[in-house]
Amino acid sequence: MRIVFLGPPGAGKGTQAKTLARKRNLAHLSTGDMLRAAVAGKTVVGLVAQGYMERGALVPDDVVLGVIEEHLADGKAAKGFVLDGFPRTIAQATRLDEMLASRGAPIDRVLLIDCPKEEVVRRLSERRSCRKCGAVYHIEAMPSKKEGFCDRCGGDLYIRDDDREDVIRRRFETYERSTIPLVEYYEKKGILTKIDGTSSPETVAAAVEKAVGG
Ligand code: AP5
Repeated sequence: MRIVFLGPPGAGKGTQAKTLARKRNLAHLSTGDMLRAAVAGKTVVGLVAQGYMERGALVPDDVVLGVIEEHLADGKAAKGFVLDGFPRTIAQATRLDEMLASRGAPIDRVLLIDCPKEEVVRRLSERRSCRKCGAVYHIEAMPSKKEGFCDRCGGDLYIRDDDREDVIRRRFETYERSTIPLVEYYEKKGILTKIDGTSSPETVAAAVEKAVGG
């Protein structure tokens, strides 16, 4: 199974992608997580990506494609994957199609988790992420059991650098400008399912299961 999650920042792509990957034993491939790890590790990719991420812009296609190609070739991903936050531009989608066509393993379904701007701003302003394992919480909708600490690994919860209101609004504008064209791109291929991301996480997860034939 090869699935793509599409949607604005804060729509719940990561939350749902991780759940689906866990349930189906698929590789979870998040370009945001990969790039944050590169920034934290001060790698060459991280040094290039940092400025773009901090101002809510997209990291250049060639940099992101280099990062994702490496992970797509990985053993677990060869058996099936959930892409979270990639592709985000038509150039990325086209290159992904080429890579997968050469393996005879195209994308099965694209899930657009939709969510309006003001809800996204509210959610991301109250998101907390685990510094150690990357688990994601929301201080109201999905709180950790012990405030400030991750339920899974006990790591510190922190506020992402790009979860400031001005940056969140810029990320949303970037999504509208660069990523929304992918909706039509995948609609034309007949593999897009739109899901209302404003319901509870459990309701959204049920819609995801239905869309992938669960
Ligand atoms: P990335 O990390 O991918 O960020 P994003 O797409 O902006 O998505 P988020 O992680 O902010 O949100 P999400 O939709 O995963 O929501 P979540 O599940 O966490 O990218 C970061 C940056 O990296 C980009 O800005 C760009 O610079 C760069 N980048 C990454 N990929 C790139 C690419 N392909 N090309 C170029 N640049 C790239 O949920 C959000 C909050 O809401 C959480 O608190 C969660 O607990 C809560 N929540 C989730 N579901 C619900 C619900 N149903 N109800 C209530 N609350 C909910």
